[in-house]
Amino acid sequence: MASNHQLAERLSAAVPRGISIATPLFAARAENAEVWDVEGRRYIDFAGGIAVQNIGHRHPRVMAAVRAQLEAFTHTAFQVVPYEVYVRLAERLNRLAPGSAPKKTIILSTGAEAIENAIKIARAATRRPAIISFAGGFHGRTMMALALTGKINPYKVGFGPFPGDVFHAAFPDAYRGVSIEQSLASIEQIFRAEVEPSRVAAIIIEPVQGEGGFNVAPFEFMRALRDLCDRHGILLIADEIQTGFGRTGKMFAVEHSNVAPDLIAIAKAIGGGFPISAVIGRAEVMDAPIPGGLGSTFAGNAVSCAAGLAVLDVMEEEGIIARAQKLGEHVAERLRAMQADPRFPCIGDVRGLGPMLAMEFVKHRASKEPAPELAKSITAKAAERGLIVISCGLYANVVRVLMPLTMSLEVADEGLGILEASMLDSIAKL
Ligand SMILES: Cc1ncc(COP(=O)(O)O)c(C=O)c1O
Repeated sequence: MASNHQLAERLSAAVPRGISIATPLFAARAENAEVWDVEGRRYIDFAGGIAVQNIGHRHPRVMAAVRAQLEAFTHTAFQVVPYEVYVRLAERLNRLAPGSAPKKTIILSTGAEAIENAIKIARAATRRPAIISFAGGFHGRTMMALALTGKINPYKVGFGPFPGDVFHAAFPDAYRGVSIEQSLASIEQIFRAEVEPSRVAAIIIEPVQGEGGFNVAPFEFMRALRDLCDRHGILLIADEIQTGFGRTGKMFAVEHSNVAPDLIAIAKAIGGGFPISAVIGRAEVMDAPIPGGLGSTFAGNAVSCAAGLAVLDVMEEEGIIARAQKLGEHVAERLRAMQADPRFPCIGDVRGLGPMLAMEFVKHRASKEPAPELAKSITAKAAERGLIVISCGLYANVVRVLMPLTMSLEVADEGLGILEASMLDSIAKL
């Protein structure tokens, strides 16, 4: 088999540089919370395919469900010849989503596609054009999703113009001094200076910003947003693409604040490694687009739906939410101990919700000047030492953990040990 180095050379000749590769290894196989590269080397996985492998790589229940579906049929296009696995998954998601109103679900393929559809549905339901999203937010790489995204580099550079009638409010950020009041005031300012509230179809928010740096929207803020939306007839859309399916220690992150959004976009972990996304919403809102207004060739692919149903079974039967909470407490304690360690004054902040946790790296704690080169060096050193871990953040200075929720505490500790050693290596190098 070719080496990592040989494959990297072929990759750079064959694949555009716009896809920036985070680690120098090529996957050969993966099991639960570990990945092996083409040279046979083992890695602990703190990235989980970017918050996808919440129940671990190749969960046997998912593999069995996919095999059974492969034996039956793979694709008929749901709008041409529908099938039960889609309907069953929609029924289960409708039951799971927060809020007492009747729900409906459309199943799609990618997170960005779920966001595009959530916006289409919100506009059709309200007959209003404008959308408010947040600075630091990330909603995907299609044009509308990019318009909503509040982080320029690298996602938006060179790709404009973007669709109009999108306005960015300030996201509350306790570490960098944006209060809940300031954030709400920034929405009022949009209403004064940019667009009247009666033209706003929806406010879209990640309950915990993912790519933006694991900033947690305070629960009180989520409730204030719900009130504000209700006052103005605006729909609230939760982008739970990264936070969903146990990642924050609840099935959906909005459950922490007891807020029921009108629409929820999900993707990533629901497929257990297969491409699938969905929009779950209040039935009357979901039914606003006319027949034929929604759909796509592969949306709700039968193999992915079968995988999604198996993921939900595993989550229930293996107590994944309880495991996530336990893992989250354990990892948070270790990260906070690192922050308190005098060897690591570079850790400015440790934050997150449940096991969705991150460390923000700074040059000095007092100035909070971001240290993106340190975060980059730490993830690179970690890969050399056998840990897959990725960065994020508006300043690219945050290292985040997105390990499978099925990772044992022993393997998590082994990974955290590698992270600590990689931090020491990186500090010594600077
Ligand atoms: C919060 C959030 N929204 C949307 C997306 C886009 O999802 P996809 O990459 O599947 O299009 C992501 C992907 O990272 C995300 O984290």
